[in-house]
Amino acid sequence: MTDAPHPADAGWPTTTTAAEVDPTHAEAVPLYGPRFQQDPAALYGEIRRLHGPVAPILLDGGIPAWFVSGYREVHQVTSDSQLFARDTRRWNAWDRVPADWPLLPFVGYNTSIMFTEGAEHQRRAGAIGDALAAVDQFELRSHCERIADRLIDAFAGSGKADLMADYALKIPLLVVAKMYGMPEADTPDLVRDIAISLDNGSDAMAAHLRVAATMRRLVAGKRARPGPDVPSRLLDHPAGLAEDDIVLDLIVVTAAAQQPTANWIGNTIRLMLTDARFALTLSGGRGSVGQALNEVLWQDTPTQNFLGRFAVRDTQLGGRRIRAGDLMVLGLAAANADPHVRPDAYSGAGGNHAHMSFGHGEHGCPYPAPEVAEVIAKATVEVLLDRLPDVSLAVPAESLVWRPSVWMRGLAALPVEFTPTYAPNQVAPMPAPAPW
Ligand code: HEM
Repeated sequence: MTDAPHPADAGWPTTTTAAEVDPTHAEAVPLYGPRFQQDPAALYGEIRRLHGPVAPILLDGGIPAWFVSGYREVHQVTSDSQLFARDTRRWNAWDRVPADWPLLPFVGYNTSIMFTEGAEHQRRAGAIGDALAAVDQFELRSHCERIADRLIDAFAGSGKADLMADYALKIPLLVVAKMYGMPEADTPDLVRDIAISLDNGSDAMAAHLRVAATMRRLVAGKRARPGPDVPSRLLDHPAGLAEDDIVLDLIVVTAAAQQPTANWIGNTIRLMLTDARFALTLSGGRGSVGQALNEVLWQDTPTQNFLGRFAVRDTQLGGRRIRAGDLMVLGLAAANADPHVRPDAYSGAGGNHAHMSFGHGEHGCPYPAPEVAEVIAKATVEVLLDRLPDVSLAVPAESLVWRPSVWMRGLAALPVEFTPTYAPNQVAPMPAPAPW
């Protein structure tokens, strides 16, 4: 995953870094630290007020980049792939990046869909789009419902659960494994290894290698015995993808689906359990789940910030002088709250889907991945509310803790309580004998 060649070896231009060419980086805002955890929206507003829609920032380890927080500017950067491209070997700051840099997994070059450009990217993204579009949405929905029911069965009798660990974090990968036609026996290990590899801990690389080995086995198996699943469709696609590229892209799709979808589910359940508007409609009907899902994409989107795009040549953006090879961090959550598009940041989102939460342009979350994510998220929240109608937070809302990430907004835990219920085939425990 982090097989990054030095740019000089790769033949890309190495110029001076942003800090050296732009004195405004002397006032750069650190894009890390505890302030991002609890109330990032306030911080994004402050950065915009003090530095405008394109701000000089420092990433972990003091590495300079630009934070694009204006809606118009994010749109401009993501729309113009000739000027702001995706191949991380274009970066002009590689010589500052230590081998153990925590953000390396996001920028370490490989030949997956993520970092390819132009015609090659269209070939790869087109094949993934076609393979996902062939997933029957009704089957997907009923499969999600079955998984959600099974997970709820496991804790329904106890009257309490952590809806992150026990529910939201488990569902997307179980669904993806089904879309991949993966043998049931391989699924638990894959679920565990993807989680470890996304957590950037010391065993992340070993877990990533195990994920890659599982995907290689899966693709080889599908070559021998194709089925109605995503890997078989990629192997059979007229784009004629190499098996190694399919393996890489399946890993990207798996990781891209897991964390954002799990956090979309968690953030939506949190909103519905803490906001009176949803509590009121909860007893009435289920229409509000779609509204809550959309509102979360505006207010509390899982992908807060995204690394990123690289300037192809010297240019201007938001009044800043950008040099070839500068790294542009997409401030997706900040763009969603840009007062130019949302004068009242706290009004409901209604039916407006023009947020930046799925990115945009050639490298945006590829069609139909957002729709697939929505089917999963909607089914997951609806089954929960159906099965546990009196579910409520087990702790005060203010004590919920967000995971310490600048990139992904999700809860560390979502403790809830509810009246214990039992699946039809389960037997309720005998009440304790009276003490007299
Ligand atoms: C089934 C679920 C999902 C799948 C299969 C999926 C797949 C992908 C893939 C393959 C990419 C890389 C696209 C490229 O580089 O060309 C991507 C990018 C992205 N996805 Fe998704 N995704 C899913 C869910 C989500 C969700 C729920 C969110 C956020 C709410 C999200 C936000 C993004 C963003 C922000 C990008 C980068 C966009 C950009 O660079 O402009 N994805 N996704």
